[in-house]
Amino acid sequence: MKQNDKVDWGPQIHEQFVRQAKWTESIRSKIYPQVNLRGAKKVLEVGCGTGVITDEIRKKTPAKITAIDHDKGMLQVAEKSVKNVTFKQANVEKLSMRSNTFDVVLCQYLFLWLAEPEKAIKEMSRVCKKKGFVVALSEPDYGGWVEYPDFQLGRYHMNHLKREGADPFVGRKLRFLFETAGLETSLGVIAQTWDKEHLLMNIEEEWKRVFDSQIISEAEYRDMIRMEKEAIRENKRTIFMPVFYAIGRKR
Ligand SMILES: C[S@@+](CC[C@H](N)C(=O)[O-])C[C@H]1O[C@@H](n2cnc3c(N)ncnc32)[C@H](O)[C@@H]1O
Repeated sequence: MKQNDKVDWGPQIHEQFVRQAKWTESIRSKIYPQVNLRGAKKVLEVGCGTGVITDEIRKKTPAKITAIDHDKGMLQVAEKSVKNVTFKQANVEKLSMRSNTFDVVLCQYLFLWLAEPEKAIKEMSRVCKKKGFVVALSEPDYGGWVEYPDFQLGRYHMNHLKREGADPFVGRKLRFLFETAGLETSLGVIAQTWDKEHLLMNIEEEWKRVFDSQIISEAEYRDMIRMEKEAIRENKRTIFMPVFYAIGRKR
């Protein structure tokens, strides 16, 4: 792979995926019945990472689940904790599976990281059965980030993602990508602000990611945490970012 090869996900990545999955849990529980996950016979998860979503879907369907990722280290973590799933190292842009195999093909926070998302969605659609579903469960769009007071957290995240080769605007592109691949597509957006408890729980980690990417110094990092905590405790902090999802039905 191109862009992703540069990404050093680091040892904390599983916790980060768990946090991300929590933000969007409520919408996934609404999407699964829409794509008849429970009634599916074969499910493919693409870009499974450390298996956070794999574990969730395994509990929600008796289907035979295959989960792929192109990163061996991720798969090793996933394999240790999630049982009864076939894990494979593979690149979504060139899948070895036969056409029309899976009832549901899904991914979470994947398109953000793809160098050639058009190829990926074509492959995901190809291996999906006719009338089956291809689903992007959550893809952010940092262009819609809103924060007040303006501590520049969104801008730092966006710069960091661009530097890593990710596309911070991928959310808005999902419908275009899915329809171009021939899928009958419905698009949705998770538009929620973080409440006080959520902010307090996550803000340090959010700034740690900025600090770890060497965009700010340690002194700046400490200052930001102090300012953030003060604003959050006084209930004066607002952060919002749209996270899109797309459900595509193969014609
Ligand atoms: C942000 S992580 C999300 C992991 C998981 N879906 C989750 O939400 O917890 C993106 C994952 O996609 C994988 N990935 C990126 N490009 C890929 C590709 N071309 N083929 C397969 N996996 C890929 C990465 O290795 C990484 O594990």
